[in-house]
Amino acid sequence: MRIMSCTLGLALVCMFASVSAAADGKELYVRCQGCHGQDGSKLLKSKAEGDVLKALTGYKAKTYGGEKKTVMENLVKNLSDEDMQALAKYISTL
Ligand code: HEC
Repeated sequence: MRIMSCTLGLALVCMFASVSAAADGKELYVRCQGCHGQDGSKLLKSKAEGDVLKALTGYKAKTYGGEKKTVMENLVKNLSDEDMQALAKYISTL
C-alpha cells in the first residue's frame, strides 16, 4: 500500500504516509476522545484489545454496532488495519 502511494509520485503524501504508518495509537486516539473521553471513560474503559479491534473492524464491515453505529462507521472507514490495531492496543491500556 505504502509503496503504491509512492509510485503515484506524490512525494509529500508518500512522506506523510510513511510517518503516519508508524500508526501511533495514542496519536490516533486524539480524534476519538471528544466522544469517548481522554481516558476512554465513555464506552471504552477496560475494554480488551481484541474486543476493540472486533468492534472497529465490525464497524468498517458494517457488521457491528448499536443504534448509533453510523457515527462510528463514518469514522472508521478511513482507518487502515494498522490504524485500527494501534488504536485497539492503545485503548486497551486506558
Ligand atoms: C462523534 C462521536 C464519536 C467519535 C469521534 C468516536 N466515537 Fe466511537 N462511538 C461513538 C458512539 C455513539 C458509539 C456507539 C455506536 C453504536 O451504537 O454502535 C461508539 C462506539 C465505539 C466502540 C464500540 C464500543 C462497544 O462497546 O461496542 C468503539 C470500540 C469505538 N467507538 C471506538 C472509537 C475510536 C477508536 C474512535 C476514534 C477513531 C472513536 N470511537 C471516535 C461515538 C464516537
